[in-house]
Amino acid sequence: MTISVIGTGYLGAVHAVCMADLGHTVIAVDVDEAKIEALSAGRTPLYEPGLDEMLQEQLATGRLTFTTDLAAVEPADVHFICVGTPQASGENRADLTYVYAAADALGPHLRPESLVVGKSTVPVATAERLRRRIAKAGGRKKSEVRLVWNPEFLREGFAIEDTVAPDRFVYGVAEPGSPESDADVALLDRVYARPLSTGTPRLVTDYPTAELVKVAANAFLATKISFINAMSEVCEAAGGDVLALAEAIGHDDRIGHKFLGAGVGFGGGCLPKDIRAFMARAGELGADQALTFLREVDAINLRRRARMVDLAREACGGTFKGRRVGVLGAAFKPNSDDIRDSPALDVAEMIKAAGAQVRVHDPRALHVARVQRPGPEYVDTIAEALEGAHVVLHLTEWQDYRDLDPASLASTVEAPVIIDGRNKLDPARWRAAGWTYRALGRPQV
Ligand code: UDX
Repeated sequence: MTISVIGTGYLGAVHAVCMADLGHTVIAVDVDEAKIEALSAGRTPLYEPGLDEMLQEQLATGRLTFTTDLAAVEPADVHFICVGTPQASGENRADLTYVYAAADALGPHLRPESLVVGKSTVPVATAERLRRRIAKAGGRKKSEVRLVWNPEFLREGFAIEDTVAPDRFVYGVAEPGSPESDADVALLDRVYARPLSTGTPRLVTDYPTAELVKVAANAFLATKISFINAMSEVCEAAGGDVLALAEAIGHDDRIGHKFLGAGVGFGGGCLPKDIRAFMARAGELGADQALTFLREVDAINLRRRARMVDLAREACGGTFKGRRVGVLGAAFKPNSDDIRDSPALDVAEMIKAAGAQVRVHDPRALHVARVQRPGPEYVDTIAEALEGAHVVLHLTEWQDYRDLDPASLASTVEAPVIIDGRNKLDPARWRAAGWTYRALGRPQV
């Protein structure tokens, strides 16, 4: 099939490459010329394991092309809308400028038999609105625009796997059960024929449900993390151990162990903005009470960052003035160079603002951090981050940091104190090497 992908950010770039890998001819479009140039040359503007190699392979087949010319999408049987929906500046709601611009630009180039598939994370009721906009831009009736809402659930670091072998597909259609919608489902099934052939569940719903599935899933994940971080706060007050607690409750199948990792909390381009946008939309719908708990989820999450700063200050003897703090990690999670809403960088910036000299290391994200968050000092080696430090903070759980030899590092710091903000280092090893090891939600020895 011939497919277009509109928007080549994280979602779109991965989707375009993966659709080509499924055997389709793919025309990917973006307004950002630099991005299109890089992608055409075989370079993705993000770090995603395996993606550059897969991009180069697919470019070599000749079936994958990148362009800034939206008119080039005209031959496509299916158009995927993959543009970003960032948090609106100074507000909780999502900014839909790019989604609307994509719809307006696509309208005049949409053939009557082609299908539009929305993948961007949007507030409920956007699909219906887009259908109207595309129709208007193309000079036709809304009922003549074929549109399916097909949310993605991809995790950075596992984006390829999550695209070609997802846990489930969700198709939101105009009128479930109608012959028109059945035809749309059949067409999208052809796009995903390979993953569907392995028995991947596929659910067909109406538009609002499909739109809500995405934000509900992210809200649930965020809530699970904030739940364990709330337990972490109580453990700190009561002298309990949140790791043992999580291990014990996770053995209950109904709870499970995943997303019970206590620490400095969640960041990234999705969970924080999606729960805020979800609250904002519920408010517009008059259902704000249903989601007030998400305000608490957000607050618990941000409190963990403040708690990390307090622990660091305590370790520095009550003041950051004249102290050096070494920070391990800048990305919002390991195996990513994404620093959006990164807990690690928030902590680093707060400590710097309080007067300390802060040195931040990260194996992958420094090139982005130096440009986008130029506050702290960024260093290329772990040794530089640790040199002369009064306290070391472990804030992103890269394998590189787990592999460190605490014994050889103790002599390079001013004081061998480490605070594990991710609960992923081995306390026994660090303590045996002479370090004072502290962690969020765990008893102090
Ligand atoms: C998330 C969703 O998982 C994905 O389904 C959705 O499509 C996009 O948002 P992503 O942002 O890539 O994906 O990251 P994820 O792996 O979910 O982690 C989010 C944040 O939560 C990270 O900062 C991570 O460090 C943190 N986290 C995760 C915890 O603090 N504890 C955990 O137990 C798990």
